[in-house]
Amino acid sequence: MEKYLINPNHKIAKINKDIYGHFSEHLGRCIYEGLYVGENSSIPNINGMRKDVITALKDMGIPVLRWPGGCFADEYHWMDGIGPKEKRKKMINTHWGGVVEDNSFGTHEFFELCDQLGCDAYVNGNVGSGTVREMSEWVEYITFDGLSPMAQLRKENGREKPWTVKYFGIGNENWGCGGNFEPEFYANEVHRYNTFVRDYYGRPHIYRIACGPNSDDIRWTEGLMNSKRQFDGLSLHYYTVPHGWGGRGAAATFSEDMYYATVSTAFNIKSIIDRHLAVMDHYDRNKRIDLIVDEWGCWWDVEEGTNPGFLYQQNTMRDAVVAGLTLNIFNKHADRIKMANIAQLVNVLQAVALTDGEDMLLTPTYYVFKMYKEHQNATLLGSYITSDDFTCEGIKTPALIESASEDDNGVIHSTIVNLSLDKSKQIDCQVADREIKSVAAEILYGKMDAHNTFESKNDIKSRDFTSEINRKNDGFAVELPPCSVVKISIECNNAK
Ligand code: AHR
Repeated sequence: MEKYLINPNHKIAKINKDIYGHFSEHLGRCIYEGLYVGENSSIPNINGMRKDVITALKDMGIPVLRWPGGCFADEYHWMDGIGPKEKRKKMINTHWGGVVEDNSFGTHEFFELCDQLGCDAYVNGNVGSGTVREMSEWVEYITFDGLSPMAQLRKENGREKPWTVKYFGIGNENWGCGGNFEPEFYANEVHRYNTFVRDYYGRPHIYRIACGPNSDDIRWTEGLMNSKRQFDGLSLHYYTVPHGWGGRGAAATFSEDMYYATVSTAFNIKSIIDRHLAVMDHYDRNKRIDLIVDEWGCWWDVEEGTNPGFLYQQNTMRDAVVAGLTLNIFNKHADRIKMANIAQLVNVLQAVALTDGEDMLLTPTYYVFKMYKEHQNATLLGSYITSDDFTCEGIKTPALIESASEDDNGVIHSTIVNLSLDKSKQIDCQVADREIKSVAAEILYGKMDAHNTFESKNDIKSRDFTSEINRKNDGFAVELPPCSVVKISIECNNAK
């Protein structure tokens, strides 16, 4: 029997809803087909955005969306994607798959997409192959509400009022595909570009994100933090790639050893986050600069017969468990992590939805995001669970990983992941200083490689688990099956 303690009197920090953010790149079938099919498509759409995907995403809860890349961002010239569509430049997407990019999805379409999703916009600018002027004019085009050449151009293109861009990324992976810079060089560049990303009078502050480290690259974090630090957030990219790029294997066919290597590699993000935060806090004692994990998730071999540059992969319970444990880790760092974006939204890497022409399915990862929705903007509570652990890839990993928060109505939501493949876990939970009124639960579970297909779309789906809860005065007991993600919602009377 494992002991689980939730302390509602220990309120730690607000969980920024943007931790549940997503990422959409001009890559494979993420934008084109996955989200945007064009106004003349036979696939049901509103202004070109496919209805089925948008409805599912709204239901899941999507607070913020990053665009246009990724590596694509540092090759993207925004002026190619505005104005009459028939006049927009066609080009080859040299980074991803060598296919024609017709620029039919550009700035106006991205903000239309965000509008339909009801989410905030995170635009990533081009440092690697762009210019300061180009970046500055993009921000002017998007946000300026007065008399100016770019505001005028926006109006000529049919948009009178400016949009609001909440986050702006100054380059992407500038240690790699974004220019192969050294940290000191990029630290100078980011400040030069940042100077000309204007907050126009009367308009909301644009939160600026500097390109941060890849995985455990502390040297990069040092280089950026030991600079003028005129940015609001530093981004971290961490992909779960067990056994390195050469040995990651297929998404839906893998051994138990590979499963454990995966979840341990995913759990490693915790120590990576803590190490970067220690460096950040050393230079920035007031903790003004946040950590932004704007690319994360599992990266598998592409599905057989698909374009290797499209990064199309299936999504199983293994991915769901990785999502569940990672989001619990982000919640626990709510005081320092203010946004995260899983890669990527549809049809690319660890997607929440897959499409096949007019068909769509929701992946196990989708259900994790949906189950965790109540954590968005809730208050992280102190909580602790006992658990046995295992060591894999040299990483000591607990079998149970949890987090708990309290929403505005005083309801406590706890999400727990059982990583074990063979042991169900008995949990005895106590909620300190509260009397329990009601407890409801939802579960997602299945074999490690279980997944949904276009032939059988509902094999893995979250379902009600309330009947498995044994209530007590100050808590409850429950048994979590192997390879499961569970949400427990607890209504309490006021403090005893
Ligand atoms: O998400 C796919 C790619 O991974 C992104 O374009 C890049 O930033 C990262 O290397």
